[in-house]
Amino acid sequence: MRLDAGTDTAGMQRLLQIGDFAPNFQARTTMGQVSLSDYRGRWVLLFSHPADFTPVCTSEFVGLSRANERFQALNCQLLAVSVDSLYSHLGWIRAIRETFGVTVSFPIVEDPSLVIGHAYGMIADNAPDAATMRSTFFIDPEGIIRATLCYPATVGRSVDELLRVLAALRKVDAEDVVTPEGWRPGDDVLLPPQPDQAAALGGDGDGCWFYRTRPDSRDGGR
Ligand code: BEZ
Repeated sequence: MRLDAGTDTAGMQRLLQIGDFAPNFQARTTMGQVSLSDYRGRWVLLFSHPADFTPVCTSEFVGLSRANERFQALNCQLLAVSVDSLYSHLGWIRAIRETFGVTVSFPIVEDPSLVIGHAYGMIADNAPDAATMRSTFFIDPEGIIRATLCYPATVGRSVDELLRVLAALRKVDAEDVVTPEGWRPGDDVLLPPQPDQAAALGGDGDGCWFYRTRPDSRDGGR
């Protein structure tokens, strides 16, 4: 496994943030050798899970596998990672298929040396062991981190929320709009704040000068 970048000018590791370039890595996965940069031009949902063969993680993998076509329709590649070995991942995939009749349809990276886990800050400083948190990175087609989510091992993520955030990121990239609380495709969008006199005295969109809505155009994004 190899990792590119991830340190600041003083040589110290720092937590990745929105707007950072996602450090590239090459790693073994359940679908062969993968480099993060292979997916340039597509969105990538890179997400860590604490351990194979555990209940919350299993529920997430079943949900994500069932929803994979919806991610693909949004030009998004799912990419899972944990510290477990490739052989563990393969055994778990098989058990999931036998138990739930679901085929895990995205690559699972093995990160036994924690190179990716540390680079992406997936392991809490105060963690008792090497198990990663439920970290999620939305990486755009240029390789930039655009959103992150971090849940504890005990709380499963919502596939619907992951899809919603991805759709919202694509929407704000495609059009000069921002998205309100709980926005879903088809809902009204908001116009970006425009604090000037012309906007205050009138202007485009419905609502008042600091809260202007317009119908969703339903255009797709990248
Ligand atoms: C789970 O996926 O069920 C799990 C993993 C680690 C700690 C607690 C729960």
